[in-house]
Order: sequence, then structure tokens, then C-alpha cells
Amino acid sequence: MQKFPAYFLFGAATSSHQVEGSCNNDWSRWEIANASRLAKEYSRTTGLCSAEHLRQEGIRPGNYISGICVDHYHLFEEDFRLAEKIGLNACRFSVEWSRVEPEEGVWNMNELKHYVSMVSSLRKKNIEPFVTIWHWTLPLWLADRGGVLCPEFPFYFSRYAAKIVSAMNDRASYYIIINEPEIYSLNSYMLGKWTPCKKGPLNYYRSITTLIRAHTLAYSEMKKVNPGIKAGTACNMTYFEPGGGFINRLAARAADRWWNRYFTDKVMGSMDFMGLNYYFHNRIHYGLNRNSNERISDMGWELYPEGIYHVLKNLEPYGLPVYVTESGLADADDSRRAWLIEETLKQVHKALSEGVNVRGYLHWSLLDNFEWDKGFWPRFGLISVDHATMKRTMRESAKVYKNIIQNGLNI
Ligand code: BGC
Repeated sequence: MQKFPAYFLFGAATSSHQVEGSCNNDWSRWEIANASRLAKEYSRTTGLCSAEHLRQEGIRPGNYISGICVDHYHLFEEDFRLAEKIGLNACRFSVEWSRVEPEEGVWNMNELKHYVSMVSSLRKKNIEPFVTIWHWTLPLWLADRGGVLCPEFPFYFSRYAAKIVSAMNDRASYYIIINEPEIYSLNSYMLGKWTPCKKGPLNYYRSITTLIRAHTLAYSEMKKVNPGIKAGTACNMTYFEPGGGFINRLAARAADRWWNRYFTDKVMGSMDFMGLNYYFHNRIHYGLNRNSNERISDMGWELYPEGIYHVLKNLEPYGLPVYVTESGLADADDSRRAWLIEETLKQVHKALSEGVNVRGYLHWSLLDNFEWDKGFWPRFGLISVDHATMKRTMRESAKVYKNIIQNGLNI
């Protein structure tokens, strides 16, 4: 059996809007306005997933409204007990900005206390909290002023980030400042698929550059409050594998520069660790994606665990500790999750044994949740949730994960 070093963290991740329920932010407003359209669009396709029961969920408008969600807001204690049962020693969750600052500059102390009590609950279970400051959702007052493109965004954001650090006091050590700035900017701006649907390359560029400023300012404000914390941003990084030949190598390198490094390079001076969210592999062949797609998730995404090894190796020269802050799949019948966890951890272990300073793996996700514009039908959880009863059940794959945590990998 191949063990991980004692300092290595095994965890799982969630985000506020995707699990809490009863959020009142720009996404919840957008969902209500777009649910019928999303359901209609889904019904015009054959569905991403071959399972008919999931397709039936996808054609219902209700699938696209987060509503009470999986009520993690009230059930977090139970959920963290389950995390403890799996043997996790790290948990990532995000603070919902719209709860703690419902009006500009007005802080809801009870909501701040709520997040402090989440951290305390994890600490009591010897689970290291990773607090995400921003996982894409905005208070309505800020959305109405232009959201990320509002000129004051970096100021508002850093003030909010500092408030969280001060409320946490010394209880939390790890903070993820922004979740996937590139995926957010791509979908909300470049493609205009997500709220605020402001399509176009210029808006994309403005979003990315504003988020770079927001990260940098927030980092310094957070450190002023508590210099002892460790903060980084979680970037979505793809393994761009060149097909044969010079042109493909050049294209893969350009894609890597733009997608994997643009944001990271700009914020390097304001990072204590790198957060890596790994989902995608892209085998480039003269501008086309030529993945073999031997295994895919319910959402049609290729499952390619080897890719994380290459991405981790690419991060080595930055010289910072790396935490895999997300990796996972939609797998309603739980037929591929255990395999993916095991194979991914093998690749992480390989990178580690070659000297990459990777210090943890947090699976996406702890719970079945609300997958943004896809709604509830994709099931990402180590723990399944029955929406009618809110009953939680540990999936078999979570038991496999537990076994790896306890006994190591069978390599
Ligand atoms: C996001 C999560 C999302 C997951 C699966 C990541 O890009 O951070 O919010 O649920 O991917 O799509």
C-alpha cells in the first residue's frame, strides 16, 4: 500500500449557493427568470445524459431553481458529521456574500456568526476549514451596480473579505479568495450564458482584470487583519495535450498560457498557496478537441485523471504549495466516482513523489448540489441527498475514499 504523508489533507468541497438554500442573490433572481427557458432548451436536446430519469428532471423548470436546495444552511452539523465519518480532515465551503452584507456596508452579525459556527463545528471534528470568500454569487445591491464590472468592485470585495477574516479571528487558517475567475468570466461575460449575461471579449477581459485587482487588494486587506492566515485563489486548470507536430505544440502552449497562467501569473505576489480545480483535458489537434472520451461523466465530460499529473508538474516552478481544491464528476449511479477518486489520487501521489509540493485533495463535492445552469439533475456528491426528505446517504464511492484515506493506495 502506498501512503500519503501525514500532513496531506483529504477533503471535500461545497459552495454556498449550491447547497445552502434560500439564497437571495443575483443567481437566485436569474434562475427564476430563466428556469422555463433552460427547461425548454434542455427538452430540445437528447439530453447530456443517457439516463432517462435524469433527462426527465432536466426538462422540468423546477430543476433550475435552487430554492431550499439541500438545506445545508440548517443541516451543516449533520453534513460535517458525515464528513467526519468518511474520515475527511479538510472541508471547503463558501461564505454567501448576500447574507453577510445584504445592503451596501450593512453587516448582518448573525450571519457572520453562522459562518463562524461552521468553522468551529469543523474544528471540533479536527477538520481543517478552507473558507472560500467568493464562489460567484453577488448581493443584489452590487449586481444592480454592475457586479464585477462595477468600478468599485475591488474595493467592495476587499472590504467584505477583510470582514470575514476579522469575524473568523484565528479560527480559520486557509482562505480561497476567488473561485475560478476564468470560468466565471468565460460563462458570465465571454459566452454570456450565466448572469449577468454580458456577452463579449471586451467584457470578459474587463471581468478578468477586475478580478485580478480584487484578488490582490483583498489579499492585502485580509493580511492586514490577520497576517498569519494563508490565502490563495482556486483556478480551473486544463491539461492541454498537444496532438503530434509543431503547430499543435504551439497551440497547446498558447492555450496553457492564456487559460492556466494569465490570472495566476498576475496574482503570484499575493498568493500563499495555489488552489487547483481540475476537471478538463483537451487534446489539441489543429484547433479541434480530439479527446478519446473513453469514460465520461453524466454531463458528458471526459474523465481523464492522468491530466492532473501534468497540470501539477506545470505548477512546480511557481514554488508554492498546491491544494487540489476541486476534482469530481456528475455520476448519479455512482458507477465511476470511486474509480475517478482512486485514479486521480494515484496521479497526485505520482506528482508528490516526484517532488511537487501538493498538500491536499478536496473532492467536489461533499453533497449532491445545485449545478448552476444545469440545476439539480447532475449528482456530484460523495453523499446523496433525497430532495423530498433531505435524507443524506453516504455513497459507496465515499467508502472507497475512506479506505484510501485510512490505508493508502493500492499501487
Ligand atoms: C465549480 C463548481 C461546480 C463544479 C462542477 C467548478 O467549476 O467551482 O461550482 O459545481 O465545477 O461543474
